[in-house]
Amino acid sequence: DKELLILGIETSCDETAAAVIKDGKDILSNVVASQIESHKRFGGVVPELASRHHVEQITLVIEEALNEAKVALTDIDGIAVTKGPGLVGALLVGVNAAKALAFAHNIPLVPVHHIAGHIYANRLITELKFPLLALVVSGGHTELVYMEKHGAFKVIGETLDDAAGEAYDKVARTLKLPYPGGPHIDRLAQKGNAVLDLPRAWLEEGSYDFSFSGLKSAVINTLHNAEQRGEVIASEDVAASFQASVIEVLTEKTVRAAKEYNVHQVLLAGGVAANQGLRTALQEAFQPLSEIELIIPPLNLCTDNAAMIAAAGSVLFEQGKRGKMDMNAYPGLDI
Ligand code: KG4
Ligand code: ZN
Repeated sequence: DKELLILGIETSCDETAAAVIKDGKDILSNVVASQIESHKRFGGVVPELASRHHVEQITLVIEEALNEAKVALTDIDGIAVTKGPGLVGALLVGVNAAKALAFAHNIPLVPVHHIAGHIYANRLITELKFPLLALVVSGGHTELVYMEKHGAFKVIGETLDDAAGEAYDKVARTLKLPYPGGPHIDRLAQKGNAVLDLPRAWLEEGSYDFSFSGLKSAVINTLHNAEQRGEVIASEDVAASFQASVIEVLTEKTVRAAKEYNVHQVLLAGGVAANQGLRTALQEAFQPLSEIELIIPPLNLCTDNAAMIAAAGSVLFEQGKRGKMDMNAYPGLDI
């Protein structure tokens, strides 16, 4: 059999990324040019700046991905590109690069949903066993996604306000930590104690939805009140308390959904999946449930990358899904 080579392209936010994947699971290259240093001084991602960096980097990053994989464009069977959701000006750079290459070399185009990409990062470490449940926790998303088969995504719960990563970044900003704050809170939390009494948003009985804006406000109010009283709460303890609340809710709902839906696997996905506290809590929670396999990708496959887009694109390619030359970018796209 001839092998399947898919080039993946990802530019939805602040990483310009390209990767080559063989047969849907083997990473031949995975290049990520991060813009974090440029956005840091503004305390968050500046959309216009992101687009410009993508334009500067995209050709180089794609060339590097092909070189590292030791393949030529003429060897590529399909070009998988993130169509949304994300920043429209950022997405368009990847979409247009993919379209130009697809047109010039007569290669099929495969549009990929960014969240499908995060979920399929797991296919790069193991064979997926359905039905499965994915906990997607990123800067823009917090979702529990049930999958009965490849390409079938059913959102059974989602955040009603802030995404988990967004809450991490906002709390980090309150603690005057650099952007993106998630990894900093994670590190501080490991040195602190969860001494603050912060809320857990369980929502309605049986609900798989999430809410993090109340928790974020509670942290801000607690810090403000302490300051008024002239007290100082150690950042380590604030981080540990905030993180304990986030992790407890994410873990409880994931375990409950996994049992109710009788899944074979639980996949962790998205940037917040890099969180050490969350990884440990899920491992401990699923350890007694031997019938459910918990899959946790390595850190570089949790945060934005193009290998995950190529992995999802490989499945779509084999299902015969193709994009047309008038393909657009969709900033607010449902999975
Ligand atoms: O998936 P991702 O790279 O981009 C989006 O699609 O949003 O996720 C980025 C988010 C940021 O909010 C960042 O603070 C968070 O993931 N993050 C973390 C950790 N590493 C990244 N949050 C908590 N703990 C971490 N170790
Ligand atoms: Zn992402």
